Amino acid sequence: METMDIMKAMRARHSVRAYQDRPIEREAVDALESYIAQLNEESGLNIQLTLNEPTAFTGPLAHYGSFKNCSNYVAICAANGRDEEIGYFGEKLVLYAQQIGLHTCWVALTCNKRNVRHCCRKGEKLQIVISIGYGVHGGVPHKNKPLERQCSFEGETMPEWFAAAMKAVRMAPTATNQQRFHFALLEGDRVKARHLLGPCAKIDLGIAKYHFELGAGEHPFEWV
Ligand SMILES: Cc1cc2nc3c(=O)[nH]c(=O)nc-3n(C[C@H](O)[C@H](O)[C@H](O)COP(=O)(O)O)c2cc1C
Repeated sequence: METMDIMKAMRARHSVRAYQDRPIEREAVDALESYIAQLNEESGLNIQLTLNEPTAFTGPLAHYGSFKNCSNYVAICAANGRDEEIGYFGEKLVLYAQQIGLHTCWVALTCNKRNVRHCCRKGEKLQIVISIGYGVHGGVPHKNKPLERQCSFEGETMPEWFAAAMKAVRMAPTATNQQRFHFALLEGDRVKARHLLGPCAKIDLGIAKYHFELGAGEHPFEWV
C-alpha cells in the first residue's frame, strides 16, 4: 500500500461527501485499525471504525449534507470538555486516511446520529463522526478568510516558519468553513492559539493546531 507524504496529503485533503460504492480494501482497513488503536492509546479518546453500515448516512439530514453512498465512518466518543483533543487526534486520522488513498469528511450535524454505531464507556458520549471511503472525486479547496484576520506577530515581517505554519492552518477543515481561530506569535517563538465563538470552534482549534505543528516542521516553538 502506498503512503503519501503527509504535507502532500494535507494539500490534497478536502471534504468528500460522495463516495464510490466499493468497500475499503483489507490492507487499508488493517492500517486504519492499527492507527486508530495507536491514537486511542495516545489520547485516551475512544475512536471506533464502522464499515459497511449505510444507515447513519441515510435520511433527511444526510441528504441535506449531500452525502452519497457513505457506509463507512469513524465515531469519536469522549467525555465532554475534550473538544480540542478530539480535533487534534481526529485530524491525525483524517490526514492518515488521505495518505493511504482514502477521503473523509468531519460530520457534526448532517448524519443520522441515532444510527451511528458506537460504544461509549462510562462518562463518554458520541461527540462527532468522520465519514470515510473512496471519493467519487477528491473535493475542492475551500475559501479562506484574510490571513491578517487569522494571525498576528510582532515585528516588521512574518517569520518564514510562522508563514509556513499558517499556510498549513489555512488548509484545515472547520465546521461550516468558519475558521474561527486566531494564532498570535509572541516573543521567544511562543504561540498563543485561541478560538472565537462558533459551533465546534474548539474542535476546529484542535484541528488547526495539528496543521500548525505540521507546517512549522522542525522549527521549535512553544504553545502558550
Ligand atoms: C468540526 C467539523 C464539523 C463538520 N460538520 C459537518 C457536517 O455536519 N456536515 C458536512 O457536510 N460537513 C461538515 N464539516 C465539513 C466542513 O463543512 C468543511 O470542513 C469546510 O467547509 C471546509 O472544507 P474542506 O474540508 O473541504 O476544506 C465539518 C467540519 C468540521 C471540522
